[in-house]
Amino acid sequence: MHEVGRIVPDATNGPQEGPEAGPEGDRTGSKAEGEPASAARWHTFATVVLTRVSSPPEDLHHAFNKNQIASKQWLLDRVHAVLGGRFGTVVVLGGWHGVLAAMLLADRRFSLGRVISVDLDPRCVPVAEQINCRALAERRFAALCADACALDYGALELRPAAASGPGAPPGLVINTSCEHMPESEAWYDRVPRGVFQVYQSNDYFDCPEHVNCVPDLEAFKKQIPMTRILYEGVLPRRRYRRFMLIGRK
Ligand SMILES: C[S@@+](CC[C@H](N)C(=O)[O-])C[C@H]1O[C@@H](n2cnc3c(N)ncnc32)[C@H](O)[C@@H]1O
Repeated sequence: MHEVGRIVPDATNGPQEGPEAGPEGDRTGSKAEGEPASAARWHTFATVVLTRVSSPPEDLHHAFNKNQIASKQWLLDRVHAVLGGRFGTVVVLGGWHGVLAAMLLADRRFSLGRVISVDLDPRCVPVAEQINCRALAERRFAALCADACALDYGALELRPAAASGPGAPPGLVINTSCEHMPESEAWYDRVPRGVFQVYQSNDYFDCPEHVNCVPDLEAFKKQIPMTRILYEGVLPRRRYRRFMLIGRK
């Protein structure tokens, strides 16, 4: 099952030049555009993490399952193709156990200032910190227990795309948990204007935890009224479809 998506041309924002080698990370991410997701490798990594975390949460293995890894690998590949690989602060809303942060930090195509994984559930903090322990020690990762609907972006130093330059890379806000957050305006209105953004949702209505699914990409675009869409796409999975938008507010 293949992705259906399109990159929307934008003269003001071509892909930025990515680094040949990214920051120090776990070095387990894919190196090339389009390389298939290595779900098995991340699963092994999860098993190691499980042995290190005292009382691991029940849903940790879900965070590393094939669909979750494929959706996040899709995000990494498309973000790199559309926006390039250099970012300052990256904020991941509903960042859960910090798997997307780990994948971003491990991917050699990306050069990142720091990744902040924000989640309402306090149990996510110790696991995310363990998974990203090296970046945590290097102060390139932080796990924050906070509500995306009340988040103060002021202290996070997210640079708008227009104010970025060679020595001052732009900020990036990601939310791959849109289907879990009841009112999109409540968190979306707080996201600073001009910052690059990536959002994912799905049409998996049968999952009780999914309180805000969308039936299709058009409905997702209405829910998230970006001023500029640079990429829109659909990734079919066996039981549902995942939608993604990349752009600016
Ligand atoms: C099951 S997980 C993520 C699933 C998703 N497919 C992914 O991996 O990106 C959803 C997460 O969103 C978090 N969440 C829900 N509402 C939130 C909010 N208002 N602020 C921050 N995190 C929130 C939950 O605590 C949970 O950890």
